[in-house]
Amino acid sequence: MSPAVPTDDPREGPVLVVDFGAQYAQLIARRVREAHVYSEIVPHTATAADLAARRPAGIILSGGPKSVNETPAPSIDPGIYDLGIPILGICYGAQLLAQQLGGVVDRTGRGEYGRTPLTVTGSSPLFSDWPVSCEVWMSHGDAITVVPDGFVATATSPDAPVAALHDPDRAIFGVQFHPEVVHTEHGRDLLERFLYDICHCPPSWTHTSIIESQVAAVRAQVGSSPVLCALSGGVDSAVAAALVHKAIGGQLTCVYVDTGLMRTNESEQVEETFRRQFHIDLVHVKAADRFFEALAGVTDPETKRKIIGELFIRIFEEVARDLVVEKGHLEDGADAPDDEPAGYLVQGTLYPDVIESGSGTAATIKSHHNVGGLPEDLAFDLVEPLRLLFKDEVRAVGEELGLPHEIVWRQPFPGPGLAVRIVGEVTPERAEILRAADAIVVEEVRRAGLYRDLWQSFAVLPAVRTVGVMGDGRTYAYPVVIRAVTSDDAMTADWARLPYDLLERLSSRIINEVEGVNRVALDITSKPPGTIEWE
Ligand code: XMP
Repeated sequence: MSPAVPTDDPREGPVLVVDFGAQYAQLIARRVREAHVYSEIVPHTATAADLAARRPAGIILSGGPKSVNETPAPSIDPGIYDLGIPILGICYGAQLLAQQLGGVVDRTGRGEYGRTPLTVTGSSPLFSDWPVSCEVWMSHGDAITVVPDGFVATATSPDAPVAALHDPDRAIFGVQFHPEVVHTEHGRDLLERFLYDICHCPPSWTHTSIIESQVAAVRAQVGSSPVLCALSGGVDSAVAAALVHKAIGGQLTCVYVDTGLMRTNESEQVEETFRRQFHIDLVHVKAADRFFEALAGVTDPETKRKIIGELFIRIFEEVARDLVVEKGHLEDGADAPDDEPAGYLVQGTLYPDVIESGSGTAATIKSHHNVGGLPEDLAFDLVEPLRLLFKDEVRAVGEELGLPHEIVWRQPFPGPGLAVRIVGEVTPERAEILRAADAIVVEEVRRAGLYRDLWQSFAVLPAVRTVGVMGDGRTYAYPVVIRAVTSDDAMTADWARLPYDLLERLSSRIINEVEGVNRVALDITSKPPGTIEWE
């Protein structure tokens, strides 16, 4: 199966989710994939011909933050209604299709936000599993008041006279509520009826099929060329490396640069997993001394990031050059011929990065701190085996490939490592203090069963010292700040309400076990106005 490639059978094409803004489309696309149907997000500016060219099994028009009666409001080429492809409009999408096909959308009252009772009033193949009344999740100010010719209204709610409608002849459906939101009872059933019964999609998008199709794609892309992958210890690069290794085995070399700014046991775990468990050719560069030397005396956050990013690139470049030469692809010092890459570089680009890059076809290369960037004078082509996947799919693929839970479920960690959590000068001693405190935070948060619920939970070392008293003596040592946040995507975050007994254990263990620390504080700042990291 190669879902990204259109086939002659229209039912094997993707389900296309048309994006009308905000994050609605991503959630819908994820829900479709959870039903084992491949979905992709497309901009609402795509023409009907663009969409038809993908031979989609179905089209879903997403919700959006605007009103269809605003000018300008995002629209869609009305040619899509004549393609003969099943269409489901959700919220804004339902209102848009109703209006474009001759119905009326109006402001009827105060709108509905949150849980709302819904009554099914007519027969619809989407409601075959539904009781007459249930609760759905609504978020609308306008409502459809007149259905277009050929349509029937099939549900109602207190402030939405037409909470669902469809045209039986053309398989065009609209629902005012959000079936993709977990608070909508039976929302999943409705999506499944649309996908399986109306679009006739086979439930073939599974983790095994993702792996098979990506393994085939990587093999076809790289042939017998050498492939490099910068491992960071994080989930994306780890899953990308494991996947590429499954495809091409010994052609892959992974490079792990220990900057001295990694978390406790991170380097050991990378060694253990990739060298010993997966038998991957791993170059482990122990470069802590070089990083600390370059960072000596530097306190400005941006300068720190720049130094780390540049040094990372330099080191990666040294290794890459040696490897490319060693693997016999290039003569030492020679450039690759224009039409032939020196080799390939694996990037852990995910689908949200691809969508955000705007084109939907070419991902922007992540900035240097993630993967070391591209050595400038070596012509690498990119291998991006995760570029179609959402984060939850990456984790599931990682598990299926046999990566340890600790890596697969690891919280995000910034490219510059602990340096952005050490306010002021980064020295080996201060990195050691923070690493020890951070290990306690991770251990206790895991023990409390909260590790997966939190987006991130870690320790920060400020650049001040405070007075304390321990035993008979006065101390003058660093405080450690606990930072724990919940978030969906790191764009916004809320500070986590950690239980008091967990905070008490953290405070007591950090002060007793980490030399150089005599006080523990809690960061209760959301993002915005704070950022998640301190630098
Ligand atoms: P902030 O601190 O900006 O961070 O709220 C948002 C998310 O991004 C992570 N982060 C980084 N990730 N390289 C990365 O790969 C970086 O330089 C970097 N800085 C911040 C941060 O951990 C959070 O998840």
